[in-house]
Amino acid sequence: MKKLVVLTGAGISAESGLKTFRESDGLWEGHDVMKVASPIGWAKNPELVLDFYNQRRKQGLNAKPNDGHLILKELESYFDVVIVTQNVDNLHEKAGSSNVIHLHGQLFQSRSTKDPSLIYEMEDWQLNLGDTCELGSQLRPNIVWFGEAVPMMEVAMMHAQQADIFLVVGTSLQVYPAAGLIDFVSLNAPKYIVDPNKPETGIYPNLRFVVDKASTGMRKIQEELLREFN
Ligand code: APR
Repeated sequence: MKKLVVLTGAGISAESGLKTFRESDGLWEGHDVMKVASPIGWAKNPELVLDFYNQRRKQGLNAKPNDGHLILKELESYFDVVIVTQNVDNLHEKAGSSNVIHLHGQLFQSRSTKDPSLIYEMEDWQLNLGDTCELGSQLRPNIVWFGEAVPMMEVAMMHAQQADIFLVVGTSLQVYPAAGLIDFVSLNAPKYIVDPNKPETGIYPNLRFVVDKASTGMRKIQEELLREFN
């Protein structure tokens, strides 16, 4: 089986009702991103940060995967699929994808502020001041905030290097290191970018743009992949 590595971003979840970030004037659901998604924001006003992610979780609870997510799951029948997502939602998992790497953390997990290896699955949407880990320290969202290291990046790079085919869906490719993943893919490997607004990229051989929404764009790509590489 050929290895298909897929980098996804906020755009793949747009048709599931979750808003993308950079299309809304640099505000994220009305918030200055540095106030709600940075260590400084957390230090200054943890309650605001917790509330922001509580609202994102509440919204995410009922969100359903769309055709973009579902087609990626279907492709597992034909390819060895690894999804590297910048999204913190769990729509790839809800679609049934079996190999998902979350570069920027997961919305439905909390983690200890004392020991980052203590990570807890959340059933519900609320995380509040006073909720503590087993060591007694405040829990925070298990999200990689702006300015924080991206611990899963090395694993993602290893997969990108092994990719026979590389696919990018719904990301503006503005946030590093994730946006640089494409540079680890072999020059010969075909690369596809699916986005209704063509993101700026470097110049790569074998790069094809599908200027379309994730749902319809992925259907086209699925047909092409099965025709050309299966
Ligand atoms: N289908 C596919 N792509 C879409 C759709 C759609 N229906 N609607 C919008 N898009 C595209 C936009 O054109 C844009 O290029 O999705 C992209 C979303 O870009 P961003 O909002 O910048 O999201 P992303 O690239 O995932 O952001 C990267 O930055 O906000 C931080 O940590 C956060 O993981 C996030 C990272």
